[in-house]
Amino acid sequence: MVNSETLERFDQKVQELLWSARKQTIELMNTPLKVDTKSSANDLVTNVDRQNEQLIRKRLLEIDPSARIVGEEESFNHKIDPDLNGNVWIIDPIDGTLNFVKQRDHFAIMVALYCDGVPTLGYIMDVMNKRLYHAWRGHGAYVNKLRLKEPANSSLADSLIAINGWQLIKNHCHQQEIAQQAAGLRMYGSAGIEIIHVLNGQLGGYTSRLKPWDIAAGMVIAEELGLLVKTIDDQPLNVLSSNTVLVATKKVCQDIWQITK
Ligand code: IPD
Ligand code: CA
Ligand code: CA
Ligand code: CA
Repeated sequence: MVNSETLERFDQKVQELLWSARKQTIELMNTPLKVDTKSSANDLVTNVDRQNEQLIRKRLLEIDPSARIVGEEESFNHKIDPDLNGNVWIIDPIDGTLNFVKQRDHFAIMVALYCDGVPTLGYIMDVMNKRLYHAWRGHGAYVNKLRLKEPANSSLADSLIAINGWQLIKNHCHQQEIAQQAAGLRMYGSAGIEIIHVLNGQLGGYTSRLKPWDIAAGMVIAEELGLLVKTIDDQPLNVLSSNTVLVATKKVCQDIWQITK
């Protein structure tokens, strides 16, 4: 159990940490990138992913020495222990690495804290737009210092939605039918950037098969704004396993569950 004084301290320190990680990212972007592949030719990791994760891990352990840390690049080849007891910090050091390498735009840095399984703190840094989206459960959601309003509860027919491109091509979980019933389809190639569009009410929903670090931070912020974060077939999400996730307004979720159930 973490008291609110401690969470307030964590929140301030982690916001500072995200701005430091942004600064490091911008500096390293202007030097030649070292790009390696992981599971396939399009599954990339760069020196910036690795250096950001190292920076964030080191600083999180200074802020919270009891932290258990799950980060994409160091946890990639390991089986993740699904136990959510205590303070579990989840890091995506660059979300949208392919965009980072090919576009130098449309990527994010994400950090979240789950306390005994409760989504508690969430941070998505939109690096190129210099915007830090953040929330502390029960204390509101913000972009930089500005409080975010709950987005309108729009229906699927009335909404733009985002779906992962490869999964749409394969019609994973009826995604083609979902796309056909929406007002329009958008694809940005970074879960964090896509979730930001849902937080801002620019998209009614986003669905993709995601790993823990892709959704952990977005879940805290989205739930704080009255959005739902569940599986695409209306099951509760276990953040430490891979799921086909739906982040959407209540109406969009209901419309999608009519299709997927
Ligand atoms: C990826 C991006 C992408 C999503 C993939 C993620 P990464 O994250 O968020 O949009 O479709 O599922 O793996 O690997 O660039 O951090
Ligand atoms: Ca990756
Ligand atoms: Ca990543
Ligand atoms: Ca990611």
